[in-house]
Amino acid sequence: MKNNDLIDGLNHALNREVSTFLRYILQAATIKGAEWESVRSMYREQVTDETGHAQYLADKIVMLGGVPKLEPDLTPPPADVREMLERDIAEEKADVEGYMKLADLAEQAGLPDLKMKMEEQAADEAAHAETMTRMLG
Ligand SMILES: [Fe+2]
Ligand SMILES: [Fe+2]
Repeated sequence: MKNNDLIDGLNHALNREVSTFLRYILQAATIKGAEWESVRSMYREQVTDETGHAQYLADKIVMLGGVPKLEPDLTPPPADVREMLERDIAEEKADVEGYMKLADLAEQAGLPDLKMKMEEQAADEAAHAETMTRMLG
């Protein structure tokens, strides 16, 4: 079945998204201190974006004949806020690359709607990385 690589790639991305929004929920809940309030709000807002990305991916996996498999990474996040931001900037950038690869696979599979959506999600992650980079100062 020609869509197998694509479905595997979408499942990998789904798990990265679920791992990300679980981590952001936890980080937003644990951050304390007035000086970090904007970082806390940023994580809370980005949970909504990442949840939307995960929902899109799960729906698309099913529509392509696959099965969404959830195996999120539950490694505890760092306690230090600057370390959180540094780690998440790297992860967001990795997600940009992942989505650009998925966009190529979608194009090869003749799925222009999926290609555009993967590019859109890449742009969302790039914006997240930029927001975090600004907060890090
Ligand atoms: Fe995302
Ligand atoms: Fe993101």
